[in-house]
Amino acid sequence: MIRPAAREDARAIAELEVRAWRWAFVDIVEDPLMPTVEEREACWTGEPLDGAFVAELDGRVMGVVQVGPAPPQDAGAHGAVGRLRGPYVEPAAQGAGLGAALHAHALAALEAAGYATAILWVFTANGHARGFYERRGWAADGEAGAWEGVAEVRLRRTLTA
Ligand SMILES: CC(C)(COP(=O)(O)OP(=O)(O)OC[C@H]1O[C@@H](n2cnc3c(N)ncnc32)[C@H](O)[C@@H]1OP(=O)(O)O)[C@@H](O)C(=O)NCCC(=O)NCCS
Repeated sequence: MIRPAAREDARAIAELEVRAWRWAFVDIVEDPLMPTVEEREACWTGEPLDGAFVAELDGRVMGVVQVGPAPPQDAGAHGAVGRLRGPYVEPAAQGAGLGAALHAHALAALEAAGYATAILWVFTANGHARGFYERRGWAADGEAGAWEGVAEVRLRRTLTA
C-alpha cells in the first residue's frame, strides 16, 4: 500500500533511508558522510510532509519517495518544474516492485500538481538507480553538480499533464 507519509513514520523512514544509503552507496559515499538515523529523523520531523509517500507492507514502512517544486536554480527559465527525491527502498525488499510503484505514484502526484517537467539529482556513480530511471523515461540534461564532493548528474523527464 502506498500512502502519504505521517509524522509517526519519521523514525522508520530514517532507518530505511540509512540502510538504503549504506547498501547502495558503500563505494560512492565515504563512511563519515553517511547520514545517521538521528539526522534523517530530524529532517522528517522538521519538514512539511507534503508530497512524501511511503510504501507499507504488513504494517512496516519499506520505501519512501518525495515530490515537490524544484528549487529555482533547477527550474531556471522552464517555469513550473517538479522535483523527485528517491525512491529509497529497504534493501531486503528491493527487486519486488516497490521502487517502480513508488516512482509511478510520485509521477502521478507531480502530474496532478500540474507539473509538465520534473528533475532529479542522482549520484553519477549510482548506475543501479540511473538504469532504473532511464528505463522510466528520465535522461541526463547536461547539468552536473556535487553533494559533499560526490559527483551528481541531473536527470529530467517530461510529464504527461
Ligand atoms: C533504485 C531503487 C529505488 C529501486 O527499487 P526496487 O524496489 O528495487 O525497484 P523495483 O523492484 O520496482 O524494480 C527493480 C527491477 O525489478 C523488477 N521487478 C519488478 N517487480 C518485480 C518482482 N515482483 N520480482 C522481481 N523483479 C521485479 C522491475 O521490473 C525492475 O526492473 P526494471 O528497472 O528493468 O524495470 C532501489 O534500488 C533503491 O532504493 N536504491 C537505493 C537508493 C537509491 O539509489 N535511490 C535513488 C536515489 S536518487
